[in-house]
Amino acid sequence: MSDPNKEFDGIRQDDNPLPTWWKWVFFGSVVFAIFYAIYFHKYSDWGTTEYYSAQVKDYEKEFPNKNLKVETVDGVNPFRNNSEAITAGQTTFQTYCVACHGPTGEGLVGPNLMDKQWLHGNTDKQIYETVMKGVPVEKTKLGRGPMPPHENSLGSEKIYQVMAWLAARNPDLKASN
Ligand code: HEC
Repeated sequence: MSDPNKEFDGIRQDDNPLPTWWKWVFFGSVVFAIFYAIYFHKYSDWGTTEYYSAQVKDYEKEFPNKNLKVETVDGVNPFRNNSEAITAGQTTFQTYCVACHGPTGEGLVGPNLMDKQWLHGNTDKQIYETVMKGVPVEKTKLGRGPMPPHENSLGSEKIYQVMAWLAARNPDLKASN
């Protein structure tokens, strides 16, 4: 009994070498890890950064970010006369606005958007403000209830698309004063 660590409480510790197969697996894993790391970072196209930004793009397409502001010059709708935007805007209008403004925009609970009468202004800048922020009860002029804000549900891009559709149908919706 030279080494006290070799036996304790009746349990004997042998200093056997590790089995050969175990060592092969161990060193094999180390070598694999080194080559894998080099391959992953240098040569593979599985870059996590690209993957992440593609996912972010998909997300933003599905859920337009209210902070993502469409660039405008003096609040003029940049999508005016853009046929793609007009088509997209029509779809959005059918989903979000018809319940109150009617299927053709000629009014139900909400006012007619196809005539020449405007309660809250008829320029791109004013309409954008109305649709983004809605019309709170204290600012309503019809007294038929408020108009809900759409800055979170639609966001800037989709609102400009809807406005492009409205402007294509009602020339009284002016780019600016
Ligand atoms: C819950 C009903 C409701 C929904 C949904 C709604 N609106 Fe309205 N909207 C109203 C009401 C009510 C008013 C008028 C408020 C008032 O009395 O001043 C209004 C006013 C407006 C005006 C101002 C009209 C003017 O004469 O100045 C615009 C533009 C407008 N809505 C566009 C939209 C668009 C675009 C959508 C869809 C994205 C939409 N609204 C969705 C109820 C709604």
